[in-house]
Amino acid sequence: MHSKKDSLLKRWHSFRISPGACAAKWEGQYGRDSDGYRVVACKACPSFDPGKQVCSINFGSPVRKCVVSSIEAHLHDCKGKDVLEIGFGRFMLARNLIRRSGGTWTGVEPHKPRDRKPELGSGGYGHAADVPFPDNTFDMVIGVQSIEHWGQKTDAELRAPSDYKDCVAEVRRVLKPGGTVYFDAPVGLHGHEMFIMGDLEKIRSCFPADQWKNLQLEKWREDYEPLQPYPTPKGCYKDWSVEVTSYEPDEVAHKLKTGVVWMLAITAEKI
Ligand SMILES: C[S@@+](CC[C@H](N)C(=O)[O-])C[C@H]1O[C@@H](n2cnc3c(N)ncnc32)[C@H](O)[C@@H]1O
Repeated sequence: MHSKKDSLLKRWHSFRISPGACAAKWEGQYGRDSDGYRVVACKACPSFDPGKQVCSINFGSPVRKCVVSSIEAHLHDCKGKDVLEIGFGRFMLARNLIRRSGGTWTGVEPHKPRDRKPELGSGGYGHAADVPFPDNTFDMVIGVQSIEHWGQKTDAELRAPSDYKDCVAEVRRVLKPGGTVYFDAPVGLHGHEMFIMGDLEKIRSCFPADQWKNLQLEKWREDYEPLQPYPTPKGCYKDWSVEVTSYEPDEVAHKLKTGVVWMLAITAEKI
């Protein structure tokens, strides 16, 4: 999955990404509303190739293909926007699309050296509970496969796990009134227990209705047919046994045995 060819294809896709092509690909309704969620089923997804019956994103794990598709769909029109990416790592797709569509990309990342101060238009040290920018700075705050790690207990060698209440308050503080968020995360894979267990009501409650409006949770690949399911890798259990403490052990064991991984995209607007 992480072969050299795979990583070259991933970089090539980010390098070539075009806002115009994304706008054409993602125009119109690509999901359906169901029980208060937006469902993006593989067979109705613009990335699905019906002739070959495969996802046309030709690199990455099944979830990474959804990440790429969702970024294309949500971030291809950032004209005039100041966008902050939290936990940018090394993946350039969002950054390239934001810049090419006329926005300004700024990033914070806890793996950067602490003395590398971020400035508008570039990346530097920071994390979700401490964003070193004044109030009301950004039109949009995004995170790509990052939010699920903010409250993670394992692998937290750089900082203590953060409280989601503090992180979302910090995101809200740096957003302008009317500013928006976009976060995507895997469900059933790793990170904080609410993402592992797919506890969508708990995730929803991180964005209280008196502070956020138009909260939308999109389920990508939960309805995976005609593609194959992406079963939860058995190796996850080591971390799950540390992360998941609020759910019954039987429920957790059952999830590990029968669960599939899919992707959640969260969007909302600051009131
Ligand atoms: C799975 S990586 C994803 C990186 C990149 N966005 C991508 O899609 O490849 C998770 C990222 O979240 C970052 N991260 C973890 N905890 C964080 C926190 N509390 N605040 C901000 N970023 C965090 C990590 O440093 C890492 O870059």
